[in-house]
Amino acid sequence: MLELAKGVYWVGAMDWGLRDFHGYATPRGTTYNAYLIVDEKTALIDGVKAPFKDELFRNITEICDPSAIDYVISLHVERDHSSALPFVMERAPGATLVTTERFGEQGLEANFHRGWRFHSVKDGDRLSLGWRHISFIATPLAHWPDSMMAYLEEDSVLFSSDLYGQHLATSPRFADQVASEILRPEAAKYYANIFMPYSSQAGRALEKTRALAPKLIVPSHGLMWRKDMDWVLESYGRWTQGLTVPRVVVVYDTMYGSTEMMAQAMRQGAEGEGVEVQLYRLTGSSASDIMAHILEAGAVCIGSPVLHGGIYPTVAAFLSYLRGFRPKGKLGVAFSSYGWVGIAAKAISQEMEDAGMEVVQPSLEANFVPDEEALDRCRQAAAVVARRVKAAAA
Ligand code: FEO
Repeated sequence: MLELAKGVYWVGAMDWGLRDFHGYATPRGTTYNAYLIVDEKTALIDGVKAPFKDELFRNITEICDPSAIDYVISLHVERDHSSALPFVMERAPGATLVTTERFGEQGLEANFHRGWRFHSVKDGDRLSLGWRHISFIATPLAHWPDSMMAYLEEDSVLFSSDLYGQHLATSPRFADQVASEILRPEAAKYYANIFMPYSSQAGRALEKTRALAPKLIVPSHGLMWRKDMDWVLESYGRWTQGLTVPRVVVVYDTMYGSTEMMAQAMRQGAEGEGVEVQLYRLTGSSASDIMAHILEAGAVCIGSPVLHGGIYPTVAAFLSYLRGFRPKGKLGVAFSSYGWVGIAAKAISQEMEDAGMEVVQPSLEANFVPDEEALDRCRQAAAVVARRVKAAAA
């Protein structure tokens, strides 16, 4: 079993086959990282998803009998880490379940209804394992109300929960053992889809991480950070502040090609200003992949045909997903082709405003098939946006 520091082991599970994590496309699977610390007392940090409990117990059993566990520490309640807890508590009947006061206690009880007695902790509390100590760092709403990190003081290991994670199943367990072309986009996608709505809270957690200056950061998903730690901390610094690069993302769907013509004209206008453009047709695309590219984009242009008097369904679904992320400091442009009533562009603008974006007006519309004049309006609007995006990224 992989030993990270003396008496500190990775005992988690690999989920190679996961392809969807509550709407987040996971083509490379994921891991549920759990950690065992053996000292005078033995502590298990986090669990795994219930179907992977046997893998967890196999790994623990290589080190000790599960009944020897004294503390089970839940860093947040979400079921990808907690749903094996009932089995863990059965196999370790003498263990004390450690969680955050109020939200951790309430969440575990509401999920499992076991009447467990908790040892509740708050920011700054410490737990002695014998000659080593764990301190708890509250990170509320990064990304759950009860989220916290645990820090093994003597070994300088930070158990960061979901922070700094990736949905990535790999045989190697450390970030520096995997090609950065694979690792880094997955870390960005993870931040975009899990933490973007909680950037302020993630920023506060980042400050606490930097203050600790850990030697190892071991998240609850994906690879653990040792040599490449600076990269992930610097990246979180940019992402939590909403810093952008000169990039415009054009997202659209199309029925007979008219909205696609407008999307291509938007691309041409932005590219003409020397700005990187990412163009996505929503049919066949994953919203979570698109969010990874929106993370550092300065502007998002969203286009839809009108169908049955409303926004095309794939675009409506994407807007619903986007609204939950409240992306910081991004420009938005709406465009639409329509047959009888041009209502989609206005509706898209409203959705983008509701998501907290600065919508550039007027929105762009074309009746049936856009003529050259309509396409030129798209190019010009995209060029204006691209110039602002370049200035913001400078
Ligand atoms: Fe990986 Fe928020 O659970």
